[in-house]
Amino acid sequence: MNNMTLETVRLSEDKTALEILDQTLLPNEIRVLRLTKMEDIREAIYTLRVRGAPAIGVCAAYAMALAGTQIKSNDFNVFLAQFRRIRDYLASSRPTAVNLFWALDRMERVLTDAPEKDVPALRERLFAEADAIRAQDVETCRAIGRIGFSLLHHGDGILTHCNAGRLATTGYGTATAPIYTALEQGWDDLRVYCDETRPLLQGARLTAFELSAAGADTMLLCDNAASSLMASGQVNIIFTGCDRVAANGDSANKIGTSGVAILARHYGIPFYICAPSSTIDMTLPDGKAIPIEQRPAEEVTEMWYRQRMAPEGVGVYNPAFDVTDHSLITGIITERGLCSPPYDQAFQALRFT
Ligand code: MRU
Repeated sequence: MNNMTLETVRLSEDKTALEILDQTLLPNEIRVLRLTKMEDIREAIYTLRVRGAPAIGVCAAYAMALAGTQIKSNDFNVFLAQFRRIRDYLASSRPTAVNLFWALDRMERVLTDAPEKDVPALRERLFAEADAIRAQDVETCRAIGRIGFSLLHHGDGILTHCNAGRLATTGYGTATAPIYTALEQGWDDLRVYCDETRPLLQGARLTAFELSAAGADTMLLCDNAASSLMASGQVNIIFTGCDRVAANGDSANKIGTSGVAILARHYGIPFYICAPSSTIDMTLPDGKAIPIEQRPAEEVTEMWYRQRMAPEGVGVYNPAFDVTDHSLITGIITERGLCSPPYDQAFQALRFT
């Protein structure tokens, strides 16, 4: 399997459909879905066929461009009203990753900011904006990779949680970008440790899959083995992605990330969040304001098991994300630069708004 061919989401050549790599089937099956209906696109986001904050943003952007071709009216006000209904519908798919709302807002501004309200021309502009969002994602991953790479030393052991890789973006990933950059530079002495990431196993099914296919020295561990691994001295640095960063640097990422950060503090290991600027939400003062998605109980009790592994009727706590307190984060790597505490000042200096 050639890693370079893994494209998470793209527009079909004839611009009539979204083509999505179905990540629920990985690593056992590579299947690309062709989706045209908004219901199917929303379902693909909700069920994590397409997932990872930046990839969800790109997917939503192309979905809105597609929606533009499906709205038949050329009357601007009618067009805008229908566009907004679809926007709200897609926005209801997942609450935590702010990139989704960021991308949807950018697409809507194509319409609201246009001096000429010429609907046929705006349909084309929507495709161009989605292309621009995708191109920005690719560039952002590259820039995060360069900065993250500068923090690495030969022989390092790198731990990551969930999948903030190629499969979560349309480029190099965020947390994996320093690793891909190192591979590009010919470094062959890094070790990458992937937390399996219960309950949906993004670390096992996705990160271990894409990194080993790319030739990285990859080792998988159960989430509850992270402390033991850190105690053994084999982890030198930790990179994770994130779904939303509040103005004070508190960062929401896949459930379990805050535990990894607490362990890292205990063992004295630097812990970095990799965050495209589209992930920074300056409207929220701190992590308590970040909406945390709750997922179905069956992901914990049944999924992946041959038979149910919990008593019928038991209550299940299944948040998809947790918030890592800014005090535990060594640095936040954005495409504009490395932010060090205090984060409110660092974000101001880089002009995040
Ligand atoms: O629920 P998921 O699989 O979408 O969660 C993904 C993560 O938590 C990633 O770390 C995050 O979206 C950043 S992806 C660059």
